[in-house]
Amino acid sequence: MKYFDLYNGNNLPAVGLGVYTLENEPELRKVMITAHEANYELIDTAYFYKNEEFIGEIIQSEKLNKFKIASKVWPSDFGADATKRSIERSLKSLRTDCLEIMYLHWPGEDSEQSWKVLEDYYEQRIFKNIGVCNFYKHHLDKLSVTANIKPHVDQIETHPLLTLNNFIDYLKKENIQPIAWSPLARANGELFNDQAVLKLAKKYDVSVGQIVLKYNIARDVIVLPRTTKEKRVIENIDLFNFELSKEDFELLDSLNIDKHVSHSPDETDWLKEIRKK
Ligand SMILES: NC(=O)c1ccc[n+]([C@@H]2O[C@H](COP(=O)([O-])OP(=O)(O)OC[C@H]3O[C@@H](n4cnc5c(N)ncnc54)[C@H](OP(=O)(O)O)[C@@H]3O)[C@@H](O)[C@H]2O)c1
Repeated sequence: MKYFDLYNGNNLPAVGLGVYTLENEPELRKVMITAHEANYELIDTAYFYKNEEFIGEIIQSEKLNKFKIASKVWPSDFGADATKRSIERSLKSLRTDCLEIMYLHWPGEDSEQSWKVLEDYYEQRIFKNIGVCNFYKHHLDKLSVTANIKPHVDQIETHPLLTLNNFIDYLKKENIQPIAWSPLARANGELFNDQAVLKLAKKYDVSVGQIVLKYNIARDVIVLPRTTKEKRVIENIDLFNFELSKEDFELLDSLNIDKHVSHSPDETDWLKEIRKK
């Protein structure tokens, strides 16, 4: 496993386990047990994913003690009091008194108040790191006016169809670790059926999924792949026995078409919708 250093002296593994939509307990249990055996160390959940209670119970009953957990506060819980309640609810559901990362899940009008709450928990060492998701530069600029602590990480949608190169460079310059959500572009056909990508998979004798995930790791971006298949759980972390050549990395990088497979942080209707109580 490769690790990336954060500006606060901590580090994070290059691969974590995405668990969005894994709401079926037996399926989640199977995935988590396989992931623990395959040496995943970080689980990426959120209050919004409706599986925090299952995750807390499965870690305890299956003794999956190597797992560290990241969770998120949904914008309908922004504002100081509601954010505190959301955090306490997540900690209770997850049966823990310490999280590896707590994030604000999307930017919101009152992100700043909620960020202050995350800072308090960080100061108390209840959160080892704090971060934001779906914050672009203008969101980070706004937060920086009142923040005492700069986010340690920013989790955004990025993959070869949406490389966001300028923004990734900006994050690195600011020492904010980029983390890719939907790092497989949700297995989008435009990427997974691309002849050049299929050729690369053949050349390196790995799967298309592994090529796509390696693209982000090669540019020092953490990935959080999600799968319901045990074989793919293992495959998605088996990324360290090959290196992409400069030429092949550039080929993947050239596939950018600025395509989001889900919502964008600049989609104002979506941001309004998720603030509703
Ligand atoms: N912060 C945020 O706002 C935010 C938003 C979205 C996601 N996330 C996080 O990021 C994680 C990953 O993103 P995501 O869930 O949107 O999508 P993703 O990981 O890009 O893609 C998941 C899809 O790819 C398939 N897949 C997985 N491994 C594969 C492989 N090796 N080869 C081919 N297909 C494969 C899965 O199907 P099978 O199940 O059939 O394998 C599933 O349909 C989430 O689970 C969540 O933790 C965060």
